[in-house]
Amino acid sequence: MKEILEELERRRSEARAGGGGRRIDAQHAKGKLTARERLDLLLDEGSFEEFDMFVEHRAVDFGMAEQKISGDGVVTGWGTINGRLVFVFSKDFTVFGGSLSNAHARKIVKVQEQALKVGAPIIGLFDAGGARIQEGVDGLAGYADIFLQNTLASGVIPQISVIMGPCAGGDVYSPAITDFIFMVKDTSYMYVTGPDVVRTVTHEEVTHEELGGYRVHALKSGVADGAFENDLEALTQVRRLVDFLPLSNREKPPARECHDSPERNEPSLDTLIPANPNKPYDMKELILKVVDEADFFEISPDYAKNIICGFARIEGATVGVVANQPQVLAGVLDIDSSRKAARFVRFCDAFDIPLVTLVDVPGFMPGTKQEQGGLIRHGAKLLFAYAEATVPKVTLITRKAYGGAYDVMSSKHIRGDVNYAWPSAEIAVMGSKGAVEIIFRNQTQEELVEREAEYKARFANPFVAASRGYIDDVISPHSTRRRIARALRNLRGKVLTNPWKKHDNIPL
Ligand code: HXC
Repeated sequence: MKEILEELERRRSEARAGGGGRRIDAQHAKGKLTARERLDLLLDEGSFEEFDMFVEHRAVDFGMAEQKISGDGVVTGWGTINGRLVFVFSKDFTVFGGSLSNAHARKIVKVQEQALKVGAPIIGLFDAGGARIQEGVDGLAGYADIFLQNTLASGVIPQISVIMGPCAGGDVYSPAITDFIFMVKDTSYMYVTGPDVVRTVTHEEVTHEELGGYRVHALKSGVADGAFENDLEALTQVRRLVDFLPLSNREKPPARECHDSPERNEPSLDTLIPANPNKPYDMKELILKVVDEADFFEISPDYAKNIICGFARIEGATVGVVANQPQVLAGVLDIDSSRKAARFVRFCDAFDIPLVTLVDVPGFMPGTKQEQGGLIRHGAKLLFAYAEATVPKVTLITRKAYGGAYDVMSSKHIRGDVNYAWPSAEIAVMGSKGAVEIIFRNQTQEELVEREAEYKARFANPFVAASRGYIDDVISPHSTRRRIARALRNLRGKVLTNPWKKHDNIPL
């Protein structure tokens, strides 16, 4: 028995060594941790249980029969994050560049299936060179099996991808289907085809970073939901995010003990809105002052900054916050901000996370660039997402709520449950100046100034909407936390279902 146990230990330590000391050193020299070191940081100490440590590929071409490494380039299994179950896979770049063989794919599919059956999130750590070039079509089949599982699990369990090195070719589409993608600055990049293929096909000279670094995806394309300084920060932040999320759509989001009184008044909010309605202010200040302990996990903080999305807690329970940001493009809704917020709203609705919407929006962005880019369809995504959402929806209009954007931003008309406004709210078809320039086109400049003042006095307030019941109450800014907390408490028992359908047809 002793020999058998020694043999087991020998095999285990061989598997743990991955591609060997030289390649591990090279990994560290690039500022990256190994697949196993990453899992140690992601999961609670000692909680990781590995599956399939002894799996090997079955390829024979190009001398592969003689090159086998236990585990075959991906470490899979499960563990806990702050005591809550998660399934994981972590690509091992030291083994064939983390590339995907059919055996490697089977390992990932196994944890995906388990996660779905059990009802727990799955987190994938990516650091790989795409399909195993020596293996051919079996790798492609393996990718498709993974994509299918990603798709089936969408909306059932949270799926999180962290890009911590190369993520090329077939590797990009699994993260793309998951709920959140995070990148590590400077060591990670994502693209469908790399610089060599780009050079051949389009004659463009481009670096990995220029083609798919975090600056591309977390700032411009919106493919990534955030970027962190290094592996440690990325994994620590993923742990923080998981704390906000339910394990699956069968469970309520986690609630924890709250040490921040829901009765807390914030007198400073009474002066948040500047006297001049065209002056910006920081909507994040409102968010941080309203949520528990100013703890806010922002999604895509560097992309479409005119809208803010993220998770927070009120009275210990998770909420999704969506807020226009007057500091960026006056908080206007454009293509990128509509897509960003629509995706977030749908995630919250799928996982039963109540929505708190803070509105200060001058409308949709005008212009040929936006219209040619399909603002109508993309703007409709956010409208659709809010309208179909059946989770509790609490809305507060702080200042502007103009035109179609008023309807879109979780208004009463699309089933907002509790809709508040501050006394500074202006709920109208459009801003006063633009409005009088249209309806009094032929009047002199002096007359227009007078008309603008009239229009403002008539419409630039919350009371017209409140008189029709479109706003449930006009509240004092300092009482915002208390009122939102009360509203959410009142909505805990909300039951609302949409008509039966196979699935909807959101304007993609
Ligand atoms: C087999 C691979 C590999 C791959 C890397 N390696 N990619 N082995 N298949 N796809 C191996 C290398 O041979 C090397 O082995 C080790 O991993 C490290 O690779 P390096 O090139 O030395 O590392 P680096 O300089 O950091 O470059 C990383 C890289 C590069 C940019 C990812 O390796 C690369 O371009 N790889 C190929 C990417 C690619 O074209 N993949 C196929 C995509 S097509 P040794 O033994 O020296 O350590 C695809 C289609 C699927 O994925 C579509 C499904 C929908």
